Amino acid sequence: KKILFVSSEAVPYVKTGGLADVVGSLPKYFDKKEYDVRVVIPKYACMDRSFLPNLKFLCHFYVNLNWRRQYVGIFESEYHGVHFYFVDNEFYFAGESPYNNIYEDVEKFAYFSKAVLASLPYIDFAPDIIHCNDWQTGLIPVFLHTVFGDDNFYAGIKTVFTIHNLQFQGRWRIQEIMDITGLPAHIFNAYELESYGEANYLKGGVVYADYITTVSPTYANEITTVEGGEGLSGLMTARKDRLYGILNGIDYEEYNPQTDPYISVNYSKKDAVSGKKENKVALQKELGLPVREDAFLIGIVSRMTSQKGFDLIGCVLDELLTEMDIQLVVLGSGESQYENMFHHYQSKYPDKVSVHIGFTEERSHHIYAASDVLLMPSMFEPCGLAQMIAMRYGTLPIVRETGGLRDTVEPYNEYENTGCGFSFANFNAQEMADIVRYAYRVEHEQKAAWKELIYRAMDRNFSWNVSAHAYEKLYDKLVEM
Ligand code: ADP
Ligand code: GLC
Repeated sequence: KKILFVSSEAVPYVKTGGLADVVGSLPKYFDKKEYDVRVVIPKYACMDRSFLPNLKFLCHFYVNLNWRRQYVGIFESEYHGVHFYFVDNEFYFAGESPYNNIYEDVEKFAYFSKAVLASLPYIDFAPDIIHCNDWQTGLIPVFLHTVFGDDNFYAGIKTVFTIHNLQFQGRWRIQEIMDITGLPAHIFNAYELESYGEANYLKGGVVYADYITTVSPTYANEITTVEGGEGLSGLMTARKDRLYGILNGIDYEEYNPQTDPYISVNYSKKDAVSGKKENKVALQKELGLPVREDAFLIGIVSRMTSQKGFDLIGCVLDELLTEMDIQLVVLGSGESQYENMFHHYQSKYPDKVSVHIGFTEERSHHIYAASDVLLMPSMFEPCGLAQMIAMRYGTLPIVRETGGLRDTVEPYNEYENTGCGFSFANFNAQEMADIVRYAYRVEHEQKAAWKELIYRAMDRNFSWNVSAHAYEKLYDKLVEM
């Protein structure tokens, strides 16, 4: 079976969040004898330049976007056994980041979606299934049915649409989207592309795709509720029989404390306690924090948006920093209110807080390896990879029980000696503070239990094998339909 993954980002080429991890790693884990899985992403100017020499020019052609006629170049490359295609257009993909503002992005990704479909005969790959990801690719199922539908080459192609984050939907004025896309006016109605008076790419994807998936079972339920549906709970409920929650995995080769080239000292479960201490000391030196093995190190690696629960942290950080012997290390970038908040605490508690605003793979690995706990009190979390990466490195996650966090972090039960992290239920700062205090006490007062928590976290299996198999079954069902 031939599957084409379409995404706006994928490691190792370009990454702003978990979507890139998923699209860059999941395709490696399909049974190669049965599934030929390829990936297509834009060829951004901001892509990691070190890969450019390996990209081979394949062909070029033009695509019509309503009255616009646009150039499409196709490049290709192979990475860890996966075939990647790149859509080249220097006008659309020139920005400093994959995403600019929504106004530019709606045109950019309408172009990308149409270019991907139009490229299929040129690249000589006739997929059985196109697997779309997030709103940027929402128009693919729509174009496929409304524009390419009559063409024999495209007849029979099925689509899967995966929601990585329902908060982002790609919404813009209907009139302008009609002008950009050339899509017929009659599909901009409440049952198809229209939502709250605007055109909505994600809705288009969900309505037109054959199957919809999202990245954890709990989130699949949450998005059918008014609280979690981001305005689309009705649609999600209506499509429930085609909606599946399949938990993400992480790349066990890339995130492996035994072989990780970024970290100071490699370690396995056997020597995790000492290995993590050495990494802690190295990180403290690197950041200019007081070098103290027994300081309770809390790590945060995250996009800085309200989704991630930073408002809770802001409410109680003074309390926590004054009453406990902790160090807080933060890596992230995003909304300035949160960047400023952490800068404020860094200047107020220079011996306890270190903040790095930016996106660096290497530093993130240092934090995963060195921290005692990873704090992730998300307001909502479709899946979350950071908590799984943390556990792989023996760092215990402290999370709120939502979405994929609930599905992956079994809370510590001190009576039964089970669990691999800590969690709290309500989006409430004091509840979060209490669970941080509790984790701190366990670490200080129940050393043996803490060690076992680390072992259990490292024993968890978050590799892709199980989930890749779930996708395979879904593909099989779809092809037989
Ligand atoms: P989301 O996709 O919502 O941002 P996930 O937890 O699913 O959250 O995935 C985030 C991914 O991005 C993880 O691989 C995490 O390590 C990485 N990441 C987030 N922020 C940074 C950063 N500032 N620098 C390096 N990596 C980061
Ligand atoms: C999104 C979600 C995150 C998920 C990631 C990959 O960015 O916010 O929870 O892990 O996509 O699916």
